[in-house]
Amino acid sequence: GAQVRVDAARAQPLRELPSALDACRNCDLWRHATQAVPGAGPESARLMIVGEQPGDAEDIAGLAFVGPAGRLLGTAMNEAGVSRDAAWMTNAVKHFKFEPRGKRRIHKTPAQAEVDACGHWLRAEIAAVKPRVILALGATATRAVLGGAPASMANMQGRAIAQGDLIVIPAWHPSYVLRLAEPQAQEAARRELVAALRLAKMLSD
Ligand code: URA
Repeated sequence: GAQVRVDAARAQPLRELPSALDACRNCDLWRHATQAVPGAGPESARLMIVGEQPGDAEDIAGLAFVGPAGRLLGTAMNEAGVSRDAAWMTNAVKHFKFEPRGKRRIHKTPAQAEVDACGHWLRAEIAAVKPRVILALGATATRAVLGGAPASMANMQGRAIAQGDLIVIPAWHPSYVLRLAEPQAQEAARRELVAALRLAKMLSD
């Protein structure tokens, strides 16, 4: 089965990650991004939430989940009773990948090679924080954490997958929820995200 790729030997102090990350040249995404966006949260967090990559707002702020998707995630976390300062929040890829369109910067899904190039940092965070549960938002994060074949979110979202001592729960990415045009479909997906957060809270408490 899929293996969570955690390399405990790579554990390094978390406070050193942000500067090391910003100097990362493992792929080319640093060239156009403003800065690397590190994960953040308590080192003792039992829950880790992993997104895909920083968005436009996160790239500018240098902080994860501060834009529209982060706001939806924050609301869902509140509803599920998950405190933002009880979770380590990070991304599979630490630099923003985008395509300029006029004055706007349009999100581009990172290539698997870029996710792989960035995997070192996610593994370092997992090794240092040692969460009990990882909530993986969307297919990129799910695959980055579990490895293996491309993830089918419709099949996997909301399920707890045991990987040794770690539990991985794939969930809808908040950006995906925001993109659903049909209000009922959007509300259904939002509720599934809240349910996945509740399960993550229950299993990590
Ligand atoms: N989307 C993500 O996956 N991560 C962020 O930090 C912001 C938006």
